[in-house]
Amino acid sequence: MKTAIITGASSGLGREFALQLKANFPQVEQVWLIARRKPLLDELALKLDVPAVSVPLDLTSDADLGALARKLSEENPDVTVLVNCAGCGYLGNVAETDPQLLSRMTDLNIRAMTLVSRAVLPYMREGARIVNVSSIASFCPNARMTVYSSTKAYVSSFSLGLREELRARKIAVTAVCSGPMDTEFLEIGGIAGNSQMFKTLPYCDPKKVAAGSYNAVKADRAFYTPRAFFKLYRFLAKILPSTLVVKLAKT
Ligand SMILES: NC(=O)c1ccc[n+]([C@@H]2O[C@H](COP(=O)([O-])OP(=O)(O)OC[C@H]3O[C@@H](n4cnc5c(N)ncnc54)[C@H](OP(=O)(O)O)[C@@H]3O)[C@@H](O)[C@H]2O)c1
Repeated sequence: MKTAIITGASSGLGREFALQLKANFPQVEQVWLIARRKPLLDELALKLDVPAVSVPLDLTSDADLGALARKLSEENPDVTVLVNCAGCGYLGNVAETDPQLLSRMTDLNIRAMTLVSRAVLPYMREGARIVNVSSIASFCPNARMTVYSSTKAYVSSFSLGLREELRARKIAVTAVCSGPMDTEFLEIGGIAGNSQMFKTLPYCDPKKVAAGSYNAVKADRAFYTPRAFFKLYRFLAKILPSTLVVKLAKT
């Protein structure tokens, strides 16, 4: 069965990816919604115009990653779209941040994204699409979000490398580099009210980011960065010395 898999579907951008899925990929016959909070996934499933299955998983848990592998093996879906959106980012200097929070960022943003992609790839055929949610934080390290920005640099780098590996199989990979969005991410990460940078930057609307991302995916683009302001930042971060940009990009 033609299947989409969306991680981080219970809120924010992942939820928007689910809501806009059918309009962009009408061939999809079912969607697996992955996150930890099952009630939110169930509520979303009722709103969708495509049959949806809640798959409550903690993607930082090896047992739950194993459960996903078993579900894939039992159901043998034809995965036409994979959206790796689950992610988290905590504000704070490395030396003062709870090591468990540092580990949560690397476990979810890097390890889970990599292992979910690896688990799903055998179930993807020619024409399938992978969307990896990175961030403008991937363009240059952000002091006070050093680990988060480093995880997103990994996501962008992984996406581009994987895209090249999958070219022969005609499976496209797109990394989405959004600016700040007003989602639960800001409260959970202790960012809301505590970062001058987040107060100053223009915000991206998750609805528009999901729509723009799907357009970029269908146009087979390697990267999607919403808003002219962040496109300019991406360009400047490429041409200016990173030792200079890092001073301007502190969160
Ligand atoms: N908001 C921003 O300013 C911003 C900017 C650029 C990029 N991004 C990226 O956008 C993506 C989506 O973030 P968002 O802004 O939509 O934030 P969000 O509303 O907090 O969404 C995060 C999602 O990840 C899920 N998740 C968290 N921990 C998980 C775990 N251990 N296992 C499985 N799922 C887990 C959450 O669901 P449960 O809690 O139910 O598990 C939720 O569905 C992230 O990758 C983030 O890094 C965000």
